[in-house]
Amino acid sequence: MKQLPNNFESALKSYLKKTFYPGTRKEDFSVRDFTEGDYRFFAKGVGRLTEYFTSDRGSLPRNYFNQKDLRSGYLFYFLPVNALKVAGLLNYIPDPFFQRPLKVLDLGSGPGTGMLGVHCRGAPMCAPSEKGQTHGSAPTHHYTLADQNRDVLQDALGLKTALGIPGELRIRAGDLLNNSLAKVVPPEPYDLILLINFLNEFSSERRASLLDILLRRYLAPGGRILIAEPALQRITRELMELRDELLQTERGHVYAPCLHQEACPMLAHNQRDWCHIYLDWERPRWIEKLDRMLHLRKEYLKSSFLILGNEPAPTYTAETWRVVSGHINSKGKSEMLLCGPGGLPQLKRVTRLDRDQSPANQDFDRAQRGDLVETVVGDRLTKEKKFRVR
Ligand SMILES: C[S@@+](CC[C@H](N)C(=O)[O-])C[C@H]1O[C@@H](n2cnc3c(N)ncnc32)[C@H](O)[C@@H]1O
Repeated sequence: MKQLPNNFESALKSYLKKTFYPGTRKEDFSVRDFTEGDYRFFAKGVGRLTEYFTSDRGSLPRNYFNQKDLRSGYLFYFLPVNALKVAGLLNYIPDPFFQRPLKVLDLGSGPGTGMLGVHCRGAPMCAPSEKGQTHGSAPTHHYTLADQNRDVLQDALGLKTALGIPGELRIRAGDLLNNSLAKVVPPEPYDLILLINFLNEFSSERRASLLDILLRRYLAPGGRILIAEPALQRITRELMELRDELLQTERGHVYAPCLHQEACPMLAHNQRDWCHIYLDWERPRWIEKLDRMLHLRKEYLKSSFLILGNEPAPTYTAETWRVVSGHINSKGKSEMLLCGPGGLPQLKRVTRLDRDQSPANQDFDRAQRGDLVETVVGDRLTKEKKFRVR
């Protein structure tokens, strides 16, 4: 389970007050403890942003971080939540990838969400010692953050210092669309490129062409691109379409969550479902409080994502599957959908009747959306259209 750095809550609260109170009637409160009044002050922006992101996206101002309440609301709530998502999603990239200093590029970085996620990926790094030094010998990464909004990039710099995140940080401000990417971020090889809650702000043609440029001109050989999006049906199905288009045009390879490079079976055979995962988390106290104040629900973290690269992805045997649904329970049975090379071109429906429940098949109950499962039934799971677990 991923955690934020120990000093995160106090560093964030003091950063918020120091940055957003000067020039307001709250100026005198900027160095005092964080009170109920401070919660109320910053919760307003969280509430407005939530409304925009969930039901009123069309009226979100183009450069919304120009509005201080929206920017501070983002820092207070969305930054920590999204950073923990990134940390969890990076687990889908095998460990050895992170055991060297990486050049990380985060596009549409906001206040440094991707950087914080990479920092939190190795749990020991998130437990700074008393002197502010991090434990362990985790490599120091080099970060380049790009965003249209200068102020939010300054927040990234301020928070990096406040949190003691090691490594060099370059910030690049400018519009990353309309062929201006190279002007803002000159092409050079990056090991890890992050597009976190960013692509859905653009049309599908623009997403595809941006991805194409990144794969050809920005991604180092063997590097990875992580795209993460909110686990909403429309946005995720668009991401599934983008994946299929990328593979059809042979512009890149998919490493996760897919275990194959064929057309997405969920997209092809089902009009409704969307491929997303749940990540374990321990909700930080102040997030819990904001959830209560604003009637939000962040009891669990959900995300849809893709991990892409420019080198062929590993191939999996017909015994390895990804769980792509929750438990679908109905009278007398529980079912689950699996995706993997063995089931193509369909998803595989696996059923366990309640009367068959036994210690021998308890892994069926434990399996969760997003898990990788190995089967021990040889090719029976591949051959049988509907598989019954006994
Ligand atoms: C929803 S926020 C995501 C921020 C961060 N990646 C995260 O997940 O917390 C989208 C970000 O993309 C930036 N953005 C949107 N359109 C942009 C553009 N055309 N050029 C550069 N940045 C842009 C916004 O300023 C904002 O910081």
